[in-house]
Amino acid sequence: MNFQIIITSWYQANHRNLPWRASTDPYVIWLSEIILQQTRVEQGLPYFNRFLAAFPTVRDFAGASETEILKLWQGLGYYSRGRNMLYTAREVMELHEGVFPVAYDALIRLKGIGAYTAAAISSFSSGESRAVLDGNVFRVLSRYFGIDIPINSTAGKSTFSTLSQSLIEGQDPAVYNQAIMEFGALQCKPKSPNCAVCPLQDGCAAYAGNLVNHLPVKLKT
Ligand code: ADE
Repeated sequence: MNFQIIITSWYQANHRNLPWRASTDPYVIWLSEIILQQTRVEQGLPYFNRFLAAFPTVRDFAGASETEILKLWQGLGYYSRGRNMLYTAREVMELHEGVFPVAYDALIRLKGIGAYTAAAISSFSSGESRAVLDGNVFRVLSRYFGIDIPINSTAGKSTFSTLSQSLIEGQDPAVYNQAIMEFGALQCKPKSPNCAVCPLQDGCAAYAGNLVNHLPVKLKT
């Protein structure tokens, strides 16, 4: 079995039921992805629910004051995220008449939406074939394929981006992206990953070479 089949079958059997996964609304996905950027799922979940209850649409969000946003953001940290979201929401109102874009090329032009977020929103909301590249994905790919190029170097970013995009071709983009991130979060964890019961053990280069705790490589900056 190949990497993608194993990852997606594992996902079907083991994923958490998280509310944003039930939605294909790009606004809802945007909200969840920005909240989860520097925040663990358990911590972000109640904030996601409160934001969605207070602002059910991007129009509602754009109409809020910075004070209201920052009040709801209270306790999450990295308050610039909340401020940038207000800017993005207002940009969506001005540039897209309040219809949150679903295409990667339109999303990436918005302030506060980078490659990761554009790939997540476009794949989850419209099934566009754009591979997400976050810490989970770097970890899973560097270990399974035994890649020791530093993930924060120019060569690393380009290598992992090409590899991850090649792996998503032919897959259901939404399922595959959720699957590889969930696999990194629950199974191929940064510290003491559960290699003994891992479905990818057979083909894993890091496991074979006893390198699990040495990958991914990150340059000190
Ligand atoms: N962290 C970032 N994006 C996520 C997602 N879609 N599901 C679970 N955890 C995440």
